[in-house]
Amino acid sequence: MRRLTPEAVRFLSGPAAQAELAALAEGPLDPLTAVAALRKRWSANEAAWIYDQARLRRRARAKFPHAEALLFEAEALEQASAGPVARWRAERVFGPYARVADLGAGIGGDALALAAAGKQVLAVERDPVRAALLEHNAAALGLAERIKVVHGDWRALELDVEAAFADPARRSGGRRTVRLGAMEPPLADLERLAGRLPALAVKLAPALDKAELPAGAGLGFVSLAGELKEALAGFGELAWAEPWAAVLPAGARLSGPEGPERTGPVGAYFYEPDPAVIRAGLVRRLAAGLDAWQLDPQVAYLSADAPRSTPLARGWRVLKHGPFRQKAAAAWLAAHGAGRVEVKRRRSPVEPAALEKKLKAALTGGGPTLTLFLTRIAGRHWAVLGRPL
Ligand SMILES: C[S@@+](CC[C@H](N)C(=O)[O-])C[C@H]1O[C@@H](n2cnc3c(N)ncnc32)[C@H](O)[C@@H]1O
Repeated sequence: MRRLTPEAVRFLSGPAAQAELAALAEGPLDPLTAVAALRKRWSANEAAWIYDQARLRRRARAKFPHAEALLFEAEALEQASAGPVARWRAERVFGPYARVADLGAGIGGDALALAAAGKQVLAVERDPVRAALLEHNAAALGLAERIKVVHGDWRALELDVEAAFADPARRSGGRRTVRLGAMEPPLADLERLAGRLPALAVKLAPALDKAELPAGAGLGFVSLAGELKEALAGFGELAWAEPWAAVLPAGARLSGPEGPERTGPVGAYFYEPDPAVIRAGLVRRLAAGLDAWQLDPQVAYLSADAPRSTPLARGWRVLKHGPFRQKAAAAWLAAHGAGRVEVKRRRSPVEPAALEKKLKAALTGGGPTLTLFLTRIAGRHWAVLGRPL
């Protein structure tokens, strides 16, 4: 990819480049043919910028609603929040606040969502290219009135806002980091700011070490389509007293103190809590809500006598369970006419992919996909075969 400059962004924002990009939105995008065609009308730099944007726009569709109107930069796109998460955060976390700062706004994954949710946004970005891209993106979505883009370092600014959001870059020396002190800017800088604003939320890697969080900070976890996406640390009015999990796209939320311990044998139904619930330490609280119990106090698998539909967990009807032996598992699959098997595990040393291969011989074509859970119950290696609810 050719490096973008503020001049390149100005060029790409212009009507002629935008028309070229619209023409490249669909159909094959072969680099040789596309660039050769562009070179008839544009300089080598301009042709490369247009071609790169056409590719980035296609890649961005997974994250950005209206990607076809926006401009991107490869690393900033990779760092940008996924659309449904940014929208949820803007509406649900920042709901009460009218004037919000986005500290390190990148190309606008969050700033655009905050503005679309009706906020007046102060978007600060110190990288000149990203700031220019964000200016374009705000205008392209008709949000320029609501987003003030400031090119600079937010630490040098007086922030006249009710709340702030920060999504610090998690790369240090070219590698991804979960260490809060190695983020850019480090959490300590944000912590200092927290004392001067009514509310601050900071997006963090979900694998963060909770012990590194400052005392008094609130903490929640967000998943999207079953994948853990982010941790959110809250300060001031957002210093949530209890941990929470938010499960998107359903928008279900669970919070509270952890529930009482309840364990029991495998019942008629089996639940795997959403990863945000597990990471927030709310497995027992979820169990209480589902009238379910843990199979083992150390393992985040639940069981119950009755089925419950909830976005906070995936559920299965239990078909068979017992001590894990490969031969027995193969016989269970054959007896239930499984067409495919998905192996999942918690606290089991068995490699799921390797076992799935070995169990292939027991499968019949056309049957249902069944799930084989491998786990440890009171020290014993246990297997549960289930049909998804
Ligand atoms: C992870 S990205 C933000 C992504 C953004 N939330 C999105 O969804 O598109 C972090 C951004 O913060 C910017 N940044 C880091 N430290 C900053 C500072 N002190 N002042 C302004 N911007 C900063 C970086 O240049 C980078 O673009």
